[in-house]
Amino acid sequence: MRKKVIIDCDPGIDDSMAIMLAIQSEELEILGITIVSGNAPVEMGFENAKKVLKQMNRLDIPVFTGARHPLVKAYVDALDTHGIDGLGESFLESVDGYHQNQSAVEFLSDTLRKQPCTVIAIGPMTNLANLIEYDKQAFLQIEQLISMGGAFKEQGNCSPVAEYNYWEDPEAAALVYHTMAEHHKKIHMVDLDVTRQIILKPEMLDEMEQINPEQGSFLRKITKYYFQFHWEWEHLRGCVINDPLAVAYCIDPSLCSGMEAFVDIETQSLSRGQSIVDAYGYYRKPANAVVLTKVDTERFFTFFIDRVLRKKKKV
Ligand code: RIB
Ligand code: CA
Repeated sequence: MRKKVIIDCDPGIDDSMAIMLAIQSEELEILGITIVSGNAPVEMGFENAKKVLKQMNRLDIPVFTGARHPLVKAYVDALDTHGIDGLGESFLESVDGYHQNQSAVEFLSDTLRKQPCTVIAIGPMTNLANLIEYDKQAFLQIEQLISMGGAFKEQGNCSPVAEYNYWEDPEAAALVYHTMAEHHKKIHMVDLDVTRQIILKPEMLDEMEQINPEQGSFLRKITKYYFQFHWEWEHLRGCVINDPLAVAYCIDPSLCSGMEAFVDIETQSLSRGQSIVDAYGYYRKPANAVVLTKVDTERFFTFFIDRVLRKKKKV
């Protein structure tokens, strides 16, 4: 049985690589892709998702526009990291079509009411928070919620303590974590403690282009800017690709390990967006998260390269 998934994202270079991985993985049936403002404004993210689906010959997958701004805070993009087109300044041709007859939240509500499924959330969680407000029963139908976000022992990536997705919309993240706690559910937190170890190296691109020139050169096109960004800002030879790990973990959870804990999200002041992981049970509250702390990076890259470079299926 293929796992039914909805990908909620803000493409975004690493989101795009996560979508590619999901499409190339036979274990998954992608019911749809919902877009949220994050790395790029939602309209740009919508266009970028279609560009990736075109590259993958999967324009049959529906895409839905979601929240234009966070619940409370002002919207802050990450185009400095992802380029002015949100896709590494690859300036790919825009893709027509895709008349949307419903919003991201309406799609999430309708789809989850039809069948429970997995949601892989790899952007700010504004759409999920809006779904809780709009149709909480549907939200509670989420069979497994996997969120790329937060940090446990790692430093943040947009403040000393906060990771971008949770920093961008901390009220949304907090509402999602509170709702999970209220209903005795656990979110799988694919945080910076694991994703920061997923560093795509330049030599890997050469290897990928050897294996599959077309897919390899597409990846090079959308990551070129990202490599430069990481070198300029962190003097890192390579680029951290956070989001594909959330997809890989959805397919093969043995890639990561971690612990169950109660997690809450700070929404105010200096530590806005910090994911507070109560590892020692100070708050005496039941766990509402599986916090991932270790990843087998070697196995992840073999998994990623093997799948993304497979011959694309014609649909
Ligand atoms: O902090 C990294 C996360 O924020 C990734 O999902 C990246 O795409 C951005 O959304
Ligand atoms: Ca993302």
